[in-house]
Amino acid sequence: MTSYSIPLFLSLSLSLSLLPLLQSELTRDYYQKTCPKFSHIVNSTVTAKQLAAPTTAAATLQLFFHDCMVGGCDASILVTSNSYNKAERDAEVNVHLSGDAFDAVARAKAALEMECPGVASCADILATAAAHLVAAVGGPAVEVPLGRKDSVESKSSSAEKQFPLATMAMSEIISIFSRKGFSVGEMVALGGAHTIGLSHCKEFSKRIFEFREGSEVDPAYNPGYAEGLRKLCANYTKDPSMSAFNDVMTPTKFDNVYFKNLRRGLGLLASDSAMFGDPRTRPFVDTYANDQTKFFQDFSLALSKLSSLQVKTGSLGEVRTRCDSFNSLP
Ligand code: HEM
Repeated sequence: MTSYSIPLFLSLSLSLSLLPLLQSELTRDYYQKTCPKFSHIVNSTVTAKQLAAPTTAAATLQLFFHDCMVGGCDASILVTSNSYNKAERDAEVNVHLSGDAFDAVARAKAALEMECPGVASCADILATAAAHLVAAVGGPAVEVPLGRKDSVESKSSSAEKQFPLATMAMSEIISIFSRKGFSVGEMVALGGAHTIGLSHCKEFSKRIFEFREGSEVDPAYNPGYAEGLRKLCANYTKDPSMSAFNDVMTPTKFDNVYFKNLRRGLGLLASDSAMFGDPRTRPFVDTYANDQTKFFQDFSLALSKLSSLQVKTGSLGEVRTRCDSFNSLP
């Protein structure tokens, strides 16, 4: 008897411990029965927002990246702080995230709560919105499977440790992505997201005003471009909202011009320039600069992979009623 009861117990506990793994599958048709208009509602809401505020696409893509890199794609970034908890969005690396992106998700959530209350997670809305907006500004289609739940935790302290900064050495940036399961090639492809959007002067001011003794400007810059940036950012300490386009040539179009720029000294952030300067990343920059189709294929696969990072499914999270707060206090 005993010799049978142990394996039985073991198999039971094994299947229980596998449960979260089995539940962790995202599917394309997750809302087919419960909210068949899910994708249509998200896409039409964020398209309208993008038309009204053309900064929305870049803002939403960046918001999605920042969400996924810290504890997975679980909408933890959308929660606001309260007197008990300083939330992820108030971490230093997130304070500049644009309100347009939060608003796009909130609008889609409101429309979905009218259509199918309590069903659509904020994490799925953010993932779908980001993918749709990439395509809307000229980028590739990105497959984003669904079924993510929203986190029941959001802490600013988690964000501070896990995030790549523009001023970090390339080895450090590579190792942050590698810890999340991304190869160097996937990282460079994802970095191509800087083909759209803006960076505040503060993020690259050292490169144009106080690079090093004897050279105020980083010599990796094209001199004419650096001069333009110095003029643009001349007052940035008084007006911290001053920003420059990440891709100076085609700033609102998702294309491979960002990579062509890097080869001409037109990489805005130190981390952009380093993608070309570092022998580990340069081959990928060259490939993507020469071949937009390859960039689109690799970006699409990498963003889809990012969208599945550490997702919470089944009972591992909740479907928030509002994206900016948990269903119950933390
Ligand atoms: C390689 C490491 C990366 C670093 C160091 C980095 C850093 C930055 C910084 C400093 C900004 C400017 C923020 C501001 O001033 O408001 C920015 C903007 C942006 N980043 Fe990244 N980023 C990285 C990778 C990524 C990835 C992987 C994505 C998306 C898949 C992404 C998407 C964006 C977008 C779309 C913007 C423009 C946001 C807007 O216009 O509102 N970045 N990034």
